[in-house]
Amino acid sequence: MKVTTTIAETWGLLDAARAEGKSIGLVPTMGFLHAGHASLIKESAAENDVTLTTIFVNPLQFAADEDLSEYPRDLERDLRLCEDAGATVVLTPNVEEMYPYPILTTVSVSELSETMEGAHRPNHFAGMATVVSKLFHIGGRCRAYFGEKDYQQLAIVRRMVSDLSFPVQVVGCPIIREENGLAMSSRNTYLSIEQYAAAAVLNRALRSAAELALSGESDAQILRSHITEIIATEPLVSAPDYVAIVDAHSLKPVDRLAGDVRIILATQVGRPRLLDNIGVSISTLV
Ligand code: PAF
Repeated sequence: MKVTTTIAETWGLLDAARAEGKSIGLVPTMGFLHAGHASLIKESAAENDVTLTTIFVNPLQFAADEDLSEYPRDLERDLRLCEDAGATVVLTPNVEEMYPYPILTTVSVSELSETMEGAHRPNHFAGMATVVSKLFHIGGRCRAYFGEKDYQQLAIVRRMVSDLSFPVQVVGCPIIREENGLAMSSRNTYLSIEQYAAAAVLNRALRSAAELALSGESDAQILRSHITEIIATEPLVSAPDYVAIVDAHSLKPVDRLAGDVRIILATQVGRPRLLDNIGVSISTLV
């Protein structure tokens, strides 16, 4: 496994690999890697000759009052995880390498970025889309792997790729969970033991709503209330910032469930804001 710190060196390695006819997989991360990231790297390594993992905590996607300076980091451990999972190149650029000048060019995906996380974190998705478009220019023609835990992010990246014709095939990968059902996230490290146990209620509530939907309840409002009530049974978990029931492709809210929908929520558990979601497919009889 090669570790690079510059874009030019990474381009050199990828150009050489392409000249030999090798396929490239890209796994963008912000580091402090866990089994969820490992699953993306493994998937890429299984489907491509070369897997480029990037580790870069992107300042553009943090608001002034968010945890940029305290965001957890452990490069040595991350590199071991990358190697074990099958990465062949790891790019770990610093901020000056990624943003040598104050940035004047940004990418924003309107509409999809304005709801849910976008409504709570106004510049987050433009910062994310901007760095991901840079990473796509670094990776070049490739398959790029993203977790479904950040479902809105995945939808925005897919749309950006389609709108701007990036030569990238976006691959969405299933959420990897802790034993108690909590979706894995680098920010879970902020949770106390009690909060970690309590946070399992998010997945329980989502699964319960999905079961209700599959047994015939199609009213989105009833399902949202069902989730909120279950979450309210855990005093360490705040009332959700939102519980959204959306079309899985357009992310538009639905009143009645039909076809592929996604139930997405975010809530504060102590210090971190946690996200989770579940997919439900309601087949319609014709
Ligand atoms: O999901 C993340 O870790 C980040 O948003 C990403 C895609 C690496 C961009 O910084």
